[in-house]
Amino acid sequence: MTPHRPRLHYTPVRNWMNDPNGLVWHDGEYHLFYQYNPYGNDWGNMSWGHAVSTDLVHWEELGVAIEATDDEHVFSGSAVIDHDGTMVAVYTGYYPASGLQAQSLARSTDRGRTWTRHPGNPVLDIGSKEFRDPKVFWYGPGGYWVMAVVLALEWKVSFYRSGDLLSWTWLSDFGPDGSVDGVWEVPDLFELDGRWVLVVSLNPGGPAGGSGVQYFVGRFDGVTFTSDWPASWADHGRDFYAAVSWNHTPDGRRRWIGWMSNWDDAAAHPTDPWRGAQSLPRELLLEDIGGRPRLVQRPVAALQALRSTDAVHLADLNVPPGVTFRPVPEGALEITAEFEPGTAERFGLVIHEGLRIGYDVVRGEAFVDGTPSGRHAAPLSADGLRLTAIVDTSSVEVFFDRGQVVFTEQVFFGPGSPCVGLFADSGTALLRSATIHSLASIWDE
Ligand code: FRU
Repeated sequence: MTPHRPRLHYTPVRNWMNDPNGLVWHDGEYHLFYQYNPYGNDWGNMSWGHAVSTDLVHWEELGVAIEATDDEHVFSGSAVIDHDGTMVAVYTGYYPASGLQAQSLARSTDRGRTWTRHPGNPVLDIGSKEFRDPKVFWYGPGGYWVMAVVLALEWKVSFYRSGDLLSWTWLSDFGPDGSVDGVWEVPDLFELDGRWVLVVSLNPGGPAGGSGVQYFVGRFDGVTFTSDWPASWADHGRDFYAAVSWNHTPDGRRRWIGWMSNWDDAAAHPTDPWRGAQSLPRELLLEDIGGRPRLVQRPVAALQALRSTDAVHLADLNVPPGVTFRPVPEGALEITAEFEPGTAERFGLVIHEGLRIGYDVVRGEAFVDGTPSGRHAAPLSADGLRLTAIVDTSSVEVFFDRGQVVFTEQVFFGPGSPCVGLFADSGTALLRSATIHSLASIWDE
């Protein structure tokens, strides 16, 4: 049976989608472009699809923005607003005839609705077949544009600068560093809470197998990025890839979104006529936790507007050994829960009978178990367990301990509404409190 379209997550109405591209806020709209095949449900004919939102929750699909031609396919990239208000997309042109990849521009003067390729494309060509995914942003202190772009097989992020987006000067390379168990893709570089964060997607070699996202925290002086800490994973689940952040947000806050999938099995997802979903958009913070800076992620606050008024509240419940199911509302769910450990070795929530989200006291780990690829875990030092889980038609996103450890997982649940239980293994635990909201669909249904 084909799973239903997600209720809370962006998917195009039909056809294949992968990476988010060209994330930019402009004139009251958040733009979400994405890798899109206009002609089918598998990867190919890569073009930029387009959707817009005023709140990052409800999306309007606008169809194909920059379409593949026979000569040039449109791979991942970013978008900026130039000084004259023009929206400029900087993307990787992939040339099927030669296999080369080089950076190209397209312009839009009507808020991203129609696009014209720059006649002098490509604007940055080093004759490589593995040179892609430019992330461009305005570097205020220097008064120039900076591009971060990967040399995928060399595990390097190259930085370039430009005054006009057309002519680019090499600044420096970062890497190899962190995980090099796969190719490097889709970089992002931004300032956050006084430090700089360099994000690099990796395929394969991710923390739950297949593709994943790592990040480095350090300094950027306008020329060189220096990492001050070993790399960390942005998400410990299996389905969060190619994450990139919005440029030019109106309040200056950093928000990002990732492709909610994994290159290992994306092509086999049993959805039709669409394939591929984006994660929930998330706010990013950088906090010192356990002696080092960590990315902290939370679903954007606007998601709370989808909450129903008739929530289920639970308080001070003993969780006996085994599983106790609780009645829950219909539809997509937001579950916020706080547990205190008792004698149990593991405790937490059960979703849809088979999926366990919890804390392993013995191993000191947060975990999600029962996904199609098994158990995924990450270290978490905690006396108890605080978590928020967003359960949609075919996914779960879990934000442990205010968002310092996150898991994004596609789970193609069977038919029927979700059920939610509490579990404890080899002892008891205490549920201090829980609130379960059903969330209204973002689509007109
Ligand atoms: C990452 C990626 C990018 C590339 C795009 C092609 O998922 O492989 O490196 O630009 O997808 O669709």
